[in-house]
Amino acid sequence: MRITVAIDGPAGAGKSTIAKMVGNKFNLMYINTGAMYRAITLKAMEMKISSNNIQALCNLIDRLEMHFENNKLILNGENVEDKITMPIISQNVSEYAAVPEVREKLVFLQRKMSERYNVIMDGRDIGTVVLKDAPFKFYLTASPEERANRRYTELKNKNLDVQYNKILEEIKERDYIDSNRKINPLRKAEDAIEIDTTNLTIEEVINKICSHISKQLYKK
Ligand code: DC
Repeated sequence: MRITVAIDGPAGAGKSTIAKMVGNKFNLMYINTGAMYRAITLKAMEMKISSNNIQALCNLIDRLEMHFENNKLILNGENVEDKITMPIISQNVSEYAAVPEVREKLVFLQRKMSERYNVIMDGRDIGTVVLKDAPFKFYLTASPEERANRRYTELKNKNLDVQYNKILEEIKERDYIDSNRKINPLRKAEDAIEIDTTNLTIEEVINKICSHISKQLYKK
C-alpha cells in the first residue's frame, strides 16, 4: 500500500524529530528537505558562490548527488549532518532557499524520491507544492519563543556557544523570509491538519499523527 506523509511548519516546530519517529512506525523513508537546502548552502558557501549567481548555483546542484541513509543526508558520499546544522548555515540558508532555480531543482529531486519509496517528507512547501496529492498532511507550529528554546537546548547539547536571544531573533527573521518569499512560501495546505506543539510533548504529537494515519489506513 502506498503511504505518503507531508509535514510542514516553521523552523523548530519539531518536524524532524516527529517525522523520524512516525516514519519508523509506518516503515517510511524520512526525507528532510531542509537538509537538502542546507547542503546546497554549505557547498555554495565553501565555493564562495553567492545566492545571486544563478548559473554557478545550477551547475553546482547538477554536480551534487544527494540521498538519505538512516535518516541522514549523504552528499557526494559524505555524511554532512554536523556541517549543515552549524549556525552559519542556519543564518544563510533562507537566502539560497529563496532562489527559484534552486527550488525547482530540489523539488524535482524530492518528487523523484517520493516516486521510488514510501516517504515521510518534512519542509515548508511539501503539502502545498512537492507532494500536493499526499493523502496525509500535517502542519506543525509552536510559538517563536518555544521554538527558540528548543534550538538553544539542541545546540547547547552539542557544546556550541549560543545565546537564546540571538536564536530567537534568527528564528523570527527566518520565519519572515520563508513566509514572504515569492516562490512557494511557507504556508499551511488547506487540507493539512494543524497541530500546535507549544504545550505538547513529542509523544503527544506523535500519538495524534499516528492515530490519524492508522484510522484512515484501517477504516475499511
Ligand atoms: O527545516 P530547516 O530549518 O532545516 O530548513 C532550512 C531552511 O530551508 C529554512 O529556512 C527554509 C528552507 N526550506 C525551504 O524553503 N523549503 C523546504 N521544503 C525546506 C526548507
